[in-house]
Amino acid sequence: MFDLIVKGGVLADGRVADIGITGDRITAIETGLTGAREVVDASGDLVSPPFVDPHFHMDATLSYGTPRINASGTLLEGIGLWGELKEVMTLEEVRDRALAYCDWAASMGLLAIRSHVDTCDDRLLGVQALLEVKKLVSGYIDLQLVAFPQDGLLRSPTALQNTIRALDMGVDVVGGIPHFERTMADGAASVTLLCEMAAMRGLMVDMHCDETDDPMSRHIETLAFEAQRLGLQGRVAGSHLTSMHSMDNYYVSKLLPLMLEAGVAAIPNPLINIVLQGRHDTYPKRRGMTRVKEMLAMGITVGFGQDCVMDPWYSMGTGDMLDVAFMGLHVAQMTSPAEMRQCFDMVTTENARIMGLTDYGLKVGALASLVVLDAGNPIEALRLRPDRLCVVAKGKVISRQLRNDARLSVDGRPPTVRRRHHAHSV
Ligand code: FE2
Repeated sequence: MFDLIVKGGVLADGRVADIGITGDRITAIETGLTGAREVVDASGDLVSPPFVDPHFHMDATLSYGTPRINASGTLLEGIGLWGELKEVMTLEEVRDRALAYCDWAASMGLLAIRSHVDTCDDRLLGVQALLEVKKLVSGYIDLQLVAFPQDGLLRSPTALQNTIRALDMGVDVVGGIPHFERTMADGAASVTLLCEMAAMRGLMVDMHCDETDDPMSRHIETLAFEAQRLGLQGRVAGSHLTSMHSMDNYYVSKLLPLMLEAGVAAIPNPLINIVLQGRHDTYPKRRGMTRVKEMLAMGITVGFGQDCVMDPWYSMGTGDMLDVAFMGLHVAQMTSPAEMRQCFDMVTTENARIMGLTDYGLKVGALASLVVLDAGNPIEALRLRPDRLCVVAKGKVISRQLRNDARLSVDGRPPTVRRRHHAHSV
């Protein structure tokens, strides 16, 4: 007797199978399963492991317009605006915004999030609030927190001691922002300090790194070097890495093998990168996203992050990782069937690998978390960004959505027949 069976769904690899769930674990994946307290009919629908976001800012989310709007649309004005928001925010307000966002995320099937949290506020309000949120949502969202000295580890006078305090309070991952330090030398020194801190504590590292159009911003080289020197292979990620789009090709031919050897993953954030970067360009205007295809071809782990939803840097967003992958597909020109499929994997399995989620995936013994989508396969899911018909988190159905056939009907024809078109093999 199962607690729950998700019946007849199409898995991402094209197999049709029932998924049997007992407690919070997947206990069977085969056809013809019977006997459950609850059955979810997923016939013909894509059943995927949950979406995963490896780069987000939950302390800033849903604050758009407070205290004002980013007029220039640049990263630097966004950082200034965030500083103004920090002056007026309260612990309760940060917690409530974060919890509201977690509801959005869960309803979209986004069940694991790595969020940076600013450690440059002497009160550490954001850290306190998000540690509380992490506990409150633990039944349905795995929230991993990164200690993030937003104003610069060396540039901000109390950032170093506050970052250490945040890690002592239980923040999971060491972050940084070397391109925001005052000099290239300070940027490199901050990378070394933070990697040593992570190595001493046995923690992972995820730095905002080279989020600029300046091809001479090369902190990823130091990050990879330190990862290798300190034995942190497989535990380090560089977020954004946008400067790589404008680096010299010869230099990149030396850099990518170093990243591979050092086991450093990359987390581009396509929505925010296409919006924030290239703002100083006239024409030709750069796309602002790192070398996704080249890193994938090298064998480097690459995920896609969301970064922002309705905050000082970004006015859009719904918590839908399919929007992120859709933009990534366009900006990185990943348009072959294999590449489109890879974009879906990047917001699911690859992001889970970056976050170190060992219980993840649709396999017997894994955590019973999944999402049922109104699409026939991963590529169709990217094209439609469809309704999430059912979300299961740790064995429990936490969100249901009715298939809305009526809203697009034309002459009485059911819209799913027109919208769905299973032309792609999966
Ligand atoms: Fe970020």
